[in-house]
Amino acid sequence: MATQPDMSVDLAGITLRTPLVAAAGTCGYIEELPSVTDVRNFGAITTKSITAKPREGNPPWRLIESEMGLINAIGLANVGVERFMAEKLPGAESVDVIVFGSIAGGSIEEYVQVAAAFDAAQHLPAVEVNVSCPNTSDGLEFGTDAARLREMVKEVRAALTQTKLIVKLSPNVTDVVSLAGAAIDSGADALTLINTISAMAIDVESRRLRLSRGRGGLSGPAVHAVAVRMVHDVYHQVAQKANVPIIGLGGVLRWEDAAELILAGATAVGIGTALFIDPGCAKSIMAGLTKWTQRQGCQSISEMVGVAKLAESPSVVG
Ligand SMILES: Cc1cc2nc3c(=O)[nH]c(=O)nc-3n(C[C@H](O)[C@H](O)[C@H](O)COP(=O)(O)O)c2cc1C
Repeated sequence: MATQPDMSVDLAGITLRTPLVAAAGTCGYIEELPSVTDVRNFGAITTKSITAKPREGNPPWRLIESEMGLINAIGLANVGVERFMAEKLPGAESVDVIVFGSIAGGSIEEYVQVAAAFDAAQHLPAVEVNVSCPNTSDGLEFGTDAARLREMVKEVRAALTQTKLIVKLSPNVTDVVSLAGAAIDSGADALTLINTISAMAIDVESRRLRLSRGRGGLSGPAVHAVAVRMVHDVYHQVAQKANVPIIGLGGVLRWEDAAELILAGATAVGIGTALFIDPGCAKSIMAGLTKWTQRQGCQSISEMVGVAKLAESPSVVG
């Protein structure tokens, strides 16, 4: 019988027992996912994004189904950092999985405030900065402009003394590689990509936009191929050289989707929308990934990272 391959991965010095990471905003704060499934199939889970002050989020409808996924405009509903630290974070002690904190904000000061609180706490070895948030002063997303992203990542980096910094990039840009480069130059220990893709849906009978805010973020199978392309480009053009690992996510429902992201350059793989369909999906994804790693003759899943590569410089497509 073939020996069991090593399915653990090293994410910026943090050992994850499996490459799977539950994605921010799709698995509650901390204790919700462990209450419905065996989280030993995950290497880590990510909290929903926490802001300095509590937020109710957007009015309904704020989550709808589309043909190939979900469109959400939750609006960062969360209890705020103070209540999170007092009521939610203690749960991290009893769950059998590593917990990553996620931060959102409307200003650099807000990101820094939450980052400093997370850093002072035990049980959060890494924080993920969700940069797909609009700056309240001008409405522009932090993650869509390299100079602005650089400034924010530097400031958050400076607030962290013991916690690894993961920067979660926005896919709503024309050149994700330069934004990834900006995040790495400013001190990101790891990158996550992709967040949701800006989208809209219309009810044809009422002739109204279906989401209360009009726009939302598309996730699920519809975005998977975009995620594969972005992980591939970022890995081969900037992340591999800088030795900065990537958590690749977007539309992972089956083990093949996860394998594709790993071959594109992801060290770990996020699971988001799939948790709404089957919170227990990590079990079959891990079983498939393990057999695949064995079949491919690898002793460790890490041997697969970035193996699939565009042969030449990108050509015109279409
Ligand atoms: C309902 C919902 C809520 C989300 N909330 C957050 C969030 O609070 N912070 C964040 O960084 N990403 C959030 N996301 C984005 C996911 O973490 C993930 O990046 C995206 O959905 C793509 O992965 P998927 O196709 O596997 O869902 C949310 C996604 C969904 C569907």
